[in-house]
Amino acid sequence: MVKISPSVLSADFAILGAEVEDIKKAGAEMAHLDVMDGMFVTNMSFGFPIIASLRKVTDMFLDVHLMIEKPERYIERFLDSGADLITFHLEATDDVDACIEMIKNRGKKVSISVKPNTPIEAVYPYLEKCDMILVMTVEPGYGGQALIPFCLDKVKTLREEITKRGLNVDIQVDGGINEETAKDAIAAGANVLVAGSAVFKYQDRKAAIDALR
Ligand code: DX5
Ligand code: ZN
Repeated sequence: MVKISPSVLSADFAILGAEVEDIKKAGAEMAHLDVMDGMFVTNMSFGFPIIASLRKVTDMFLDVHLMIEKPERYIERFLDSGADLITFHLEATDDVDACIEMIKNRGKKVSISVKPNTPIEAVYPYLEKCDMILVMTVEPGYGGQALIPFCLDKVKTLREEITKRGLNVDIQVDGGINEETAKDAIAAGANVLVAGSAVFKYQDRKAAIDALR
């Protein structure tokens, strides 16, 4: 089954708790929280306090996407803040295994992401240790961009590798996912779709989520 993880980057931050409840009621399986540090990406978003505040008001599965340099410095604090899953970027750290261990030791789900120009084979050494791989379908940093088509070839290659190894690893796509591109992403082998603008720009979030699925 395809899971939907709306990115709250396109939500109204002044009423974030209500926005997360709204997508939960609309059938979303998780909430995607984009953390940006102005270093790994040229944008900034939010950090621990927002996630900790959300944790207090919702039991929604919190899917935290760290777009930060040297994530190993902060992974513990994101776990303390209530993340259920942490995605960190392969390009952001020199110690992928240490990041994986930090997350696993706390019993939380672990995911690695790659930017569009990073070959998908770069995650192969870690596949057995991951619950999910996030294949970026835009350059990370901003919502509302158009999906880069060649990224779906990476999804297809990765799905074949996961199947070949007999693993149960989710593939998440993030960036430019809408009703049209969702079809292509699912056909390529993605089973977790992140969508920011394609969910939050609509009043009727249930209709938007159903359309993506
Ligand atoms: C981009 C973020 C995405 C972003 C997606 O760097 O990782 O999660 O919010 O936004 P849309 O779905 O509007 O492309
Ligand atoms: Zn994201």
